[in-house]
Amino acid sequence: MNSPTAPLPLAVLISGRGSNMLAIARACAEGRVAARVVSVIADRADAAGIQAAASIGLPTQVLEARALPRAEFEARLGQALEASGAQLIALAGFMRILSAAFVAAWDGRLLNIHPSLLPHYRGLDTHRRVLAAAEREHGASVHYVTEQLDGGPLICQGRLSIGAGDTESSLAARVHRLEHRIYPMVIGLICAGRLTLSGSTVLLDGRPLAAPLQVSEDGAVERTGA
Ligand code: GRF
Repeated sequence: MNSPTAPLPLAVLISGRGSNMLAIARACAEGRVAARVVSVIADRADAAGIQAAASIGLPTQVLEARALPRAEFEARLGQALEASGAQLIALAGFMRILSAAFVAAWDGRLLNIHPSLLPHYRGLDTHRRVLAAAEREHGASVHYVTEQLDGGPLICQGRLSIGAGDTESSLAARVHRLEHRIYPMVIGLICAGRLTLSGSTVLLDGRPLAAPLQVSEDGAVERTGA
């Protein structure tokens, strides 16, 4: 029998629309993920996701990064996260590179989602670049954060086949749908104690993940390798 455990306090950091934050919050509210969103923090006041988070009753905070030197911004961010009681942080469209010191302080508790099949297409404009290169596959990746931009151990990838009629906006919509599935799924595995980081190795159910979990558009989840 499962013993009821307290939901894991989770903070979500955003810079924009916040659709991933909303998908995570919904999964928590519906009991699909054993976490509680204790703070939604934006690095800019015009992040639309802040209003959306407030409108569903989540605690929100804006820390204007542009007004502050990076060290000062990160010090305030760290204080806000500590004060919220967060034990896990999900970067969700958070457009800021965090310092090595900040990342080290949250080692193993800091996640990011990126709209490509990493390690391919790090950085911005991934949908446009994937189309320009006539790729046949695209997707999104959830990974632990290291100081390397869009680097860090991979946990899960949502994967799609690019069709002849796909455009930047159709890919953006399809990738977002995948993201809204895989990010809550990964957070759920962490909250259930099934997924951890040991050094730079991702462990699922105590065994190293030989390759990131693969999720297709129809929702099938696959674990490959040993
Ligand atoms: C997502 O595509 C995510 O992969 C990337 O930024 C986008 C954020 O979208 N890091 P949203 O703000 O969650 O809607």
